[in-house]
Amino acid sequence: MRKLFIAGNWKMNKTISEAVELVNSLKREVVDIESVDIVVCPVFTALSEVADLVIDSNIGLGAQNVYWEEVGAFTGEVSPKMLKDAGCKYVIIGHSERRKYFGETNETVLKKIKAVQSAGLSPIVCVGETLDEREQKKTIEVIEKQLKDGLKEIKDDNLEDIIIAYEPVWAIGTGKTATPEQAEEIHKFIRGWIKENYSSDISEEIRIIYGGSVKSSNAKDLMSQPDIDGALVGGASLESQLFVELIKNSL
Ligand code: PGA
Repeated sequence: MRKLFIAGNWKMNKTISEAVELVNSLKREVVDIESVDIVVCPVFTALSEVADLVIDSNIGLGAQNVYWEEVGAFTGEVSPKMLKDAGCKYVIIGHSERRKYFGETNETVLKKIKAVQSAGLSPIVCVGETLDEREQKKTIEVIEKQLKDGLKEIKDDNLEDIIIAYEPVWAIGTGKTATPEQAEEIHKFIRGWIKENYSSDISEEIRIIYGGSVKSSNAKDLMSQPDIDGALVGGASLESQLFVELIKNSL
């Protein structure tokens, strides 16, 4: 039985004091929830303050990006070791906004996965097609390439530790959610791909979460699909009440 995994991707939102306020409230509201891995991914500047608050709680901490080198002359970048030092357990890799605005490719995704795993962190690896690709019926082809190139050289033992997030680009921040059936179709494809390229056991264990306009009203329908194991939530994770409702509605 795969445990639900719900992560809030705060994107470029919240000052340190706003982050602290949100996490304090979230902590109180979800204290009794044991059946979900709850994670928040604040901006870099708020990580260490949030880490102090969530230590010994049922909330995990993730970063939204990382660089693959350990240390050195890479102005503006943050290494896996530094994220670990700040209290992170997870890192989002290959989000479509990073692919679109910052030149992230399947090749850099692979480098980041490897670096993050050698530092003992778990990657949340995002895949997903654009509207254009979906309309041209290229969804499966695009996802397959993202998996094949992004996970190339990742061995069985390392794959178990990865969370895959299927995020159709056309559903992110647009209010347009994939229907549970549309999302399930792709999640099932991803699980099948893992079975074929790794093993049946790994495909049963790995968590594949959905992202793209998830909110409390659609969370249950999405997460009751057999291959959807949680959510990566943007907008609805920015207010404690909304995020808590979403989590509770997913149970
Ligand atoms: P959204 O963002 O929930 O605001 O659509 C999801 C994401 O980009 O991870």
